[in-house]
Amino acid sequence: MKEVKILVEALPYIEQFHKKKIMIKYGGHAMIDEESTSSTARDTALLNYVGMEPVVVHGGGPDISRHMELLGKKPKFFKGLRITDEETMEIVKMVLIGNINTNIVSKLGLHGAKAVGISGKDSNLVQAYKKPPHKVTDDETGEEKEVDLGLVGEIKSINTELIEMLTSNNYIPVISPLGIDSNGDTLNLNADTVAGELGAKINAEKLIILTDVSGVLKDPNDPDSLIKRIKISEIPSLIDDGIITGGMIPKIENCAKAIEGGVKSAHIIDGRVEHSLLIEIFTNQGIGTMIVK
Ligand SMILES: Nc1ncnc2c1ncn2[C@@H]1O[C@H](COP(=O)(O)OP(=O)(O)O)[C@@H](O)[C@H]1O
Ligand SMILES: [Mg+2]
Repeated sequence: MKEVKILVEALPYIEQFHKKKIMIKYGGHAMIDEESTSSTARDTALLNYVGMEPVVVHGGGPDISRHMELLGKKPKFFKGLRITDEETMEIVKMVLIGNINTNIVSKLGLHGAKAVGISGKDSNLVQAYKKPPHKVTDDETGEEKEVDLGLVGEIKSINTELIEMLTSNNYIPVISPLGIDSNGDTLNLNADTVAGELGAKINAEKLIILTDVSGVLKDPNDPDSLIKRIKISEIPSLIDDGIITGGMIPKIENCAKAIEGGVKSAHIIDGRVEHSLLIEIFTNQGIGTMIVK
């Protein structure tokens, strides 16, 4: 009886999200081990089986850094973005497409879903251009200098045809965050940005970003300081006051972009908590931080 009651309680959510796209970002830091990746994949397959259309974008920061170090290269970042020279790009492609993407696809397959691994380069899904160099002022000398991030891109346009084709035939697209520029060269993109912009473009019902913290924290050192709801208008001051920093910046900014682009709700949740994805979708109280208009 208990099991049946739970199913009946889930019915309104199953109804609400029937044939709706759910944009899910698997954070590099949330895929801590095979088990948690597998568990998230199983939850994603379940969403698909009850009639939703999940679309997955994945990150891979920690794995890329680990492989760089194995090859004797030191990872470098500027404002949360990886400085990507040509050699680093080779590693980024190998790790994201060769390793992480295929791993997620096989886990989804094991749980009975039809997953297809692609990158932003497939059928010109994500067209990008190289991010112009950042101008920074040297604190000590006061001199202006430029920081070139290398092969890091910004999104120019998104062609959703392939995604629509896959989801309408009940496939789950699993997307590596790479873009292609007008010369056919590969650019490294932030996965939160791809999830936010693609989510808006495909009219996703929800954007769910899985990461390695319980959500946006008032004090990043205090796991109990979770902020449950953030209004878009509150975001700039949270960043200016140094409460939101590093990898959380693209998450919150892209949740805002997604909401402004028509996605109904955006959430930053803890991917390390078992079934956090299902808790977010199938319960009233949800989990993590919700970004609202
Ligand atoms: N206010 C904040 N609340 C929670 N996390 C924050 C905050 N500001 C910065 N962070 C950092 O953002 C990180 C998540 O981003 P990131 O490391 O890029 O992970 P992912 O692989 O999921 O993209 C957290 O682990 C935390 O260190
Ligand atoms: Mg990140």
